[in-house]
Amino acid sequence: MSDKDKMTSNNQDGVKREKLTTRQGRLVTDNQNMRTIGRRGPGTMENYHFLEKMSHFDREEVPERVVHARGAGAYGYFETYGKVGDEPIEKYTRAKVFSGAGKKTPLIVRFSTVAGAKDSPETARDPRGFAIKMYTEDGNWDMVGNNLKIFFIRDAMKFPDMIHAFKPDPASNVPNPERMFDFVSRSPEATHMITFLFSPWGIPATYRHMQGSGVNTYKWVNEEGKAVLVKYHWEPKQGIRNLTQEEADQIQATNVSHATQDLYEAIEREEYPEWELFVQIMEDDYHPELDFDPLDDTKLWPEDKFPWRPVGRMVLDRNPEDYHAEIEQAAFGTGVLVDGMDFSDDKMLIGRTFSYSDTQRYRVGANYLQLPVNAPKTEVRTNQHRGQMDHRPVNDFGGNPHINYEPSMLGGLEETSEEERKPHRPAYNAEALSAPIDRPNNYGQAGETYRSFEEWEREELIKNLSEALAICDQRIQDAMIDHFTKADEEYGRRVKEGIQMKMKELEEMNKNDSLPGQESKWIQFTQGS
Ligand code: HEM
Repeated sequence: MSDKDKMTSNNQDGVKREKLTTRQGRLVTDNQNMRTIGRRGPGTMENYHFLEKMSHFDREEVPERVVHARGAGAYGYFETYGKVGDEPIEKYTRAKVFSGAGKKTPLIVRFSTVAGAKDSPETARDPRGFAIKMYTEDGNWDMVGNNLKIFFIRDAMKFPDMIHAFKPDPASNVPNPERMFDFVSRSPEATHMITFLFSPWGIPATYRHMQGSGVNTYKWVNEEGKAVLVKYHWEPKQGIRNLTQEEADQIQATNVSHATQDLYEAIEREEYPEWELFVQIMEDDYHPELDFDPLDDTKLWPEDKFPWRPVGRMVLDRNPEDYHAEIEQAAFGTGVLVDGMDFSDDKMLIGRTFSYSDTQRYRVGANYLQLPVNAPKTEVRTNQHRGQMDHRPVNDFGGNPHINYEPSMLGGLEETSEEERKPHRPAYNAEALSAPIDRPNNYGQAGETYRSFEEWEREELIKNLSEALAICDQRIQDAMIDHFTKADEEYGRRVKEGIQMKMKELEEMNKNDSLPGQESKWIQFTQGS
């Protein structure tokens, strides 16, 4: 069918529109009525257009992400300063994305909440995902971070249990803070993250007004193959804005998509959000002078010892045109690094690096990397081919259609030599074992963070914690009070008083009529005590 045949001018509004076709390209003459025997039916089985339309509809959704299901995204670019603070960046990394001041690298960002389902309210008290895919000249680089700079746990082994505890009850499908605090009370390393999460920092006002952080520790590798440890931080030029629980409740009463809407509309108005990228750098060793392990992602690296050093900026200036194709099917992962970058021994990072591509092969499909949003903008030459929905360019394995293996004397692709890309080779001398790290220091920084808050932030933190803990089993309450007290004596005392006050309130509420949903708090409370 020619393009001319697809056009018509006989619409009521006089506007020329393209004509509807089937997915096989045939013009559709009736999209309203199925084919039937007589006007009243029954329907016929060869009714191809109807069967295709319905069966495609039945398969419209891919499985939602097991975490971070609710999200929004946009395109933009990263512009490098070509240096780290005042030093040449090449001293630390040979990654080309950072070289040459002013160079721009295209990217896509996806922001998200963690625990809620695909259409859940964006006002949740939850970390916010901050995932970036940069289409660099050396292949893709993903930075899969969060808005908060630390995390709940430090060993990937605990992640599936943690997410089970944070998601709704598997029997009732009702979210229940008692399950979450049950897990957290037995995971003292989470005290620091909980202190951030239950303060106003736990509900960023919008995606445009929040920080981003790589959270886990990576390595930068220079031309000599020498590595340093590095942490990434994004600072919003729009400023940081957080919500109190009350403000979040007000928004949620009328809008469950406020953050997606805010991002989309700001870009449509050409108010392009911008973040500056900073790094903290540390020599790659054990650092006995620190009272924590630098690879422990429940810890901040103190800024006075490891200053934030600017390396570039990111601007988001284009909205997606198709949410499903470009955002829902986008696939980010911590394994996606470019030359000049490497993994540290951070146990969370190692565990995450398996998980992302694994889930994406299930969630999107074995060839998810061939989708335009996920494919590098550089040429891909690989012998990893075939599988469902393989539509790579024919013969992308090195010009010889017969050689899809390596090594070969007959042709095909070959490796890059180590002289050209000097590898970083960390050395180890230790026994293999399952054990926690040294220097857990679960409470020191939690106390410092509590004391660093302004008084209104502390009040909000105590109120939010008290409300959630008041409905928990007393053993959980006691354990959490103990953790907070070890972090800071005043912090623990105020949470204890807050819980007692809230429990009295709940008792009163139970005597009066309560709204649906409020009763359930009482039921959980009585069950727990
Ligand atoms: C998404 C696993 C820790 C940030 C995901 C997904 C999985 C996962 C399976 C869904 C990916 C997809 O369907 O495409 C894990 C595991 C972790 C872990 C096993 C710990 C062992 C973290 C941490 C951060 C983080 C510490 C923050 C630094 C994110 C973000 C997304 C995500 C931002 C959403 C990416 C997107 O927008 O598509 N994670 N995660 N995760 N995770 Fe993690």
